[in-house]
Amino acid sequence: MNRFSRLFGLLAMGVLAGCGKPEFSDAEKKTIASLALSALPPPKTDTTNRFADVPAAAGLGATLFFDVGMSGDGKVSCSTCHKIDRQFQDDLPQAVGVGRTNRRTMPLAGVAHDPFFFWDGRRDSLWSQALAPLENPLEQAGNRAAYAHYIKARFGERYERIFGPLPDLSTVPANASPLGSDAEKAAWSTMTKAQAEGVNRVFANIGKAIAAFERSIAPPQTRFDRFAAALATGIQLPQGDVAFSPEEILGLKLFIGKANCVTCHTGARFTDGSFHNTGVPPVANLPADRGRIDAVAQVEADPFNCFGAFRDGDASACGELRFMVKAGPELARAYKTPSLRGAATRPPYMHAGQFSSLEEVVAHYSTAPASVEGISEIHPLQLSDRERAALVAFLKTLAE
Ligand code: HEC
Ligand code: HEC
Repeated sequence: MNRFSRLFGLLAMGVLAGCGKPEFSDAEKKTIASLALSALPPPKTDTTNRFADVPAAAGLGATLFFDVGMSGDGKVSCSTCHKIDRQFQDDLPQAVGVGRTNRRTMPLAGVAHDPFFFWDGRRDSLWSQALAPLENPLEQAGNRAAYAHYIKARFGERYERIFGPLPDLSTVPANASPLGSDAEKAAWSTMTKAQAEGVNRVFANIGKAIAAFERSIAPPQTRFDRFAAALATGIQLPQGDVAFSPEEILGLKLFIGKANCVTCHTGARFTDGSFHNTGVPPVANLPADRGRIDAVAQVEADPFNCFGAFRDGDASACGELRFMVKAGPELARAYKTPSLRGAATRPPYMHAGQFSSLEEVVAHYSTAPASVEGISEIHPLQLSDRERAALVAFLKTLAE
């Protein structure tokens, strides 16, 4: 060891011991503070759902979320896939309800902050989102007329105390929907305009109650948040029970620095709520999945979207829908950036469970393969083994 490297070693020890130059630059400290849970405001008021913050509506929504009566076969509820003790997801690569779906169940913590819902954002409110699985033949496989009858029979009084009088359903067919089977569509077409409007109103209110419940699902504090809180008090390098190991610190620095993760996984939920092509490969034997590019027309056509008749409040709330990017090559195979809070303890990853570990995810970012369609936004990082392990170690601090 020459004199110079001995001096360098002593300096490095000085940094580790907490003296010497600060561990984080002011810019890094600012970014870290912006990622802490304490920086997360309460979800924005949803003026399109005037029951969004009504406790009785959230109570009814919670009941419906866990009720297998809310399905065509009487066996599936939202919580079949969104399990309360598993971060409201199910650990499967592709969700299974009445049938097997093509995508992974999304966890729900903090979901009320996002402007669009599903991996491709084909719904523009939490309440309109909830209506989709109820009628999806692979998920809950019911129909809106049956749900209206069920609400009246089981929860009529609770419903009316919140939403006002139920419509007259005495002449409404037992099973009918503008979507669904041929028989259900045929039954729907025999209904009067007033009958259809009444059923649609009850259906929308089911979504509004469930959304009120979902707004309460918040991400918990993690080790990262305790570290960030200590750092924010001016300590150069938090020690004791909030300390990060040198490996975790390296991972954090890479995440907000050289590895560019924070460009998309930003803010206290580690997501920009937007859509990106990251070159995640498709799954063999599943139908073609083009992501956001096919969802734009779907959210525009949804009768329960922000422009539709079932929105409360006025159209000033519809900016996201009005100004969304509607076309462009960047939408092909673009998916919603997932929150990374809790991710370490809920593999598999990506929109169809393509990767089974965080190591595989980080390896994907390191090599950045081209996308099968459209253009991947990520570029090869050429991370060393040590750097990859450090990123994984940092991601684990978001789940402890
Ligand atoms: C069969 C399993 C299954 C059932 C049942 C189910 N979901 Fe989901 N959920 C999923 C899957 C899979 C996705 C992603 C689907 C996609 O992107 O196409 C999802 C997405 C969501 C999202 C979007 C989250 C986000 O970040 O955009 C919300 C919210 C949600 N579900 C709530 C519900 C509610 C409320 C119910 C009951 C009315 C329900 N789910 C029933 C599997 C299920
Ligand atoms: C260009 C935006 C972008 C960048 C940069 C980015 N991500 Fe992602 N990340 C995404 C999107 C979008 C997905 C979901 C992709 C999909 O399912 O097809 C994702 C998924 C993930 C997942 C899986 C989470 C889950 O629940 O499935 C992890 C973990 C992750 N990213 C970590 C990272 C790390 C670590 C970095 C930095 C090395 C990074 N990301 C950089 C946008 C990005």
